[in-house]
Amino acid sequence: MAQEKQHKHFLVIAAASRGARFFIKKALRQGHDVTALCRATHDEAALERINRLLEETSLAKGGVKASQKPGVLRTSSKSILEAKTYSSLLKNDPSINHICCFVGATTFRQMIDRNERLYTKTILALVEGMRRSRWVEFFYHGSSGSEGIPGENTARLPENFRPRWILNLGLKLPAAQNCFESEKILAKAGAEGLQFVIFRPAWLTTAPAQRSYGYCFDTTGMNKEELPLRAARKTISREDVAEEILRVANLPHEERAHWHGHGIYLVDMKTPKDLQDP
Ligand SMILES: NC(=O)c1ccc[n+]([C@@H]2O[C@H](COP(=O)([O-])OP(=O)(O)OC[C@H]3O[C@@H](n4cnc5c(N)ncnc54)[C@H](OP(=O)(O)O)[C@@H]3O)[C@@H](O)[C@H]2O)c1
Repeated sequence: MAQEKQHKHFLVIAAASRGARFFIKKALRQGHDVTALCRATHDEAALERINRLLEETSLAKGGVKASQKPGVLRTSSKSILEAKTYSSLLKNDPSINHICCFVGATTFRQMIDRNERLYTKTILALVEGMRRSRWVEFFYHGSSGSEGIPGENTARLPENFRPRWILNLGLKLPAAQNCFESEKILAKAGAEGLQFVIFRPAWLTTAPAQRSYGYCFDTTGMNKEELPLRAARKTISREDVAEEILRVANLPHEERAHWHGHGIYLVDMKTPKDLQDP
């Protein structure tokens, strides 16, 4: 597929997350610049933290082709929950032309606390920050369990997730509900000019990239032509998700336009061996 040559500068939110580490390492390797936002006592400590995490992250062979000139990494320890973080970064650095977000609840308390609202707080701050500065194309690492076009999305797991009644309880957790709610904020901002893509990966694993995943837009189905769930597993590795976000970001703009405003389910496809098993 055609790839765009445009140099990119990604602002990465929650850059220390396990998925973001793969994304940042691959983007830098491909020659793109990255400004990484992560929790740290100050900006230099953020740089130390990200550099250490990148060193610890090994990439599966193949995949992203290395550029002769790797990109430049910058870091910031500013709060991801404040609009002024985004407005000041976007005003001060006009080269930032894409934003990716990997924020996620990391503790059980964060998952069950109704007042936490981590996802909506992050997305509201980002949207307000862009409103005060400029709109920048946005790639959101969301979650499976959200079905439908963003804005009209409802909480429902893909049909091949079983036992459904137990797993559907997980969707009632405040963190999950809040994650799905954050899609609605993006859909509203879409009407103001924000171009965004929401990735909804299946269960995440730490396995190396397999590069045998499929994707479908907005809704899943056992027999959906784009991605029949009958032929899909229920997992995908974080490294595969990172590669897919980077691949989409590298598509020519007119191709990316087909992705804007959509929620993309990502999952590994079954191998011939899986298909033999009943
Ligand atoms: N588990 C699954 O199977 C699954 C499936 C699909 C989607 N997801 C979703 O995928 C996303 C990314 O997954 P992941 O595994 O890469 O994430 P992760 O490793 O759990 O990292 C989440 C990141 O969010 C940051 N964060 C949390 N609260 C914050 C706050 N108040 N301020 C600043 N940063 C904050 C954490 O920062 P610190 O590092 O400083 O703690 C952490 O780096 C999450 O939204 C997750 O819910 C998960």
